[in-house]
Amino acid sequence: MTAASNTAHIVLLSGDGIGPEVIESAAAVLQCAARLGQLELRLEEGWIGGAAIDRCGDSIAPDTLESCLKADAVLLGAVGGPRWEHLPGHLRPETGLLRLRSAMKVYANLRPVRSRSALAAFTPYRPEILAGVDIMMIRELTGGLYFGERHRSETEAFDTCRYSKIEVERIARVAGRAARARKGRLCSIDKANVLDTSRLWRQVMSETIAREFPELILEHILVDAAAMYLAQRPASFDVIVTENLFGDILSDQSSTLAGSLGLLPSASLGDGTRGLYEPIHGSAPSIAGRGIANPIGAILSVALLFRYSLGHDHLARMIEDGVEEILDGSVLTPDLDPDSRLTTSDVTRMLCAVMSRHQVV
Ligand code: NAD
Ligand code: IPM
Ligand code: MN
Repeated sequence: MTAASNTAHIVLLSGDGIGPEVIESAAAVLQCAARLGQLELRLEEGWIGGAAIDRCGDSIAPDTLESCLKADAVLLGAVGGPRWEHLPGHLRPETGLLRLRSAMKVYANLRPVRSRSALAAFTPYRPEILAGVDIMMIRELTGGLYFGERHRSETEAFDTCRYSKIEVERIARVAGRAARARKGRLCSIDKANVLDTSRLWRQVMSETIAREFPELILEHILVDAAAMYLAQRPASFDVIVTENLFGDILSDQSSTLAGSLGLLPSASLGDGTRGLYEPIHGSAPSIAGRGIANPIGAILSVALLFRYSLGHDHLARMIEDGVEEILDGSVLTPDLDPDSRLTTSDVTRMLCAVMSRHQVV
């Protein structure tokens, strides 16, 4: 966003499955918040995932990638689905997303997870386990097994996990800043009893935090035990930092604390303010096209977009407060409440009405 124009350039990538449904909803909220905040938007659509494969034979359209690298922010729905599952790896929808994350150099993926008392009954946990759960999960996003050398033959296959000191240092700094702004506690999750990459991770994490954030309390937990503690005593976590694959798995697990995978947003950032924003869920093929996808994860990703890429924290809070209000008022899609008949667009319309009402008062 240039100060002169005050116009934010945002690329919308719907992708596959429920991606177009949640992005339609998130784009409506984006436009509603921008209008209330008197912010001008330049929205551009692009092609990624199966939709790009069908359209241009590649997992991300070349001009889409170019636009994303010039934009202030990118908002993405989801990629993938059974139709493209049997394609070779380099042509899978998921490859387009990995290429985009890598090209945008967004190495830090922030996945906030909160419990809400209004939703406790829709989780598998007792209310006292959920009380006070508020976790910032920070996942390293452009390294590790996802991006190492890989090979597949008829009879064997391998993927390589590789991390460099620089990669660990820079994610440690993101986590250190987040912990400093919150409760001063940081938990790094690894598998240092087995993996060399984890031993490097643990050492560099300890050194970087001790040197640059000496006021923080840093704890290291092995990933298998961490998965258990996340279910057993989730409120004891504040900021979590972990490597790419562990972060992927633990964040889906943590969504059970919130109530649904459809509720969780994410922000992926690099060294500047340009960011990639996506709900953490996938394309949910079994409910795609039915208009019942939960759009809240995508909508809360728009809030993060306003906060981290556009510097409009008040608009982020306007969206987040509106989401709290509708969830408290039992405006729920069927993934949370199986008896609900509310659709994706009902939730969107009610949220925009709440936001507009707050603005007027
Ligand atoms: P998924 O996240 O699509 O679905 C897991 C479960 O959660 C399903 O029961 C689904 O119906 C439900 N769900 C997810 N999001 C929901 C929402 N917003 N509202 C209501 N219910 C929701 O994971 P999957 O089934 O393992 O994967 C399906 C495809 O999505 C795969 O091709 C996978 O690679 C892809 N995927 C993409 C992303 C992404 O684009 N960022 C993330 C995860 C998975
Ligand atoms: C996510 C997804 C992606 C990941 C896939 C689709 C590449 O699961 O964003 O959590 O594993 O990072
Ligand atoms: Mn995932």
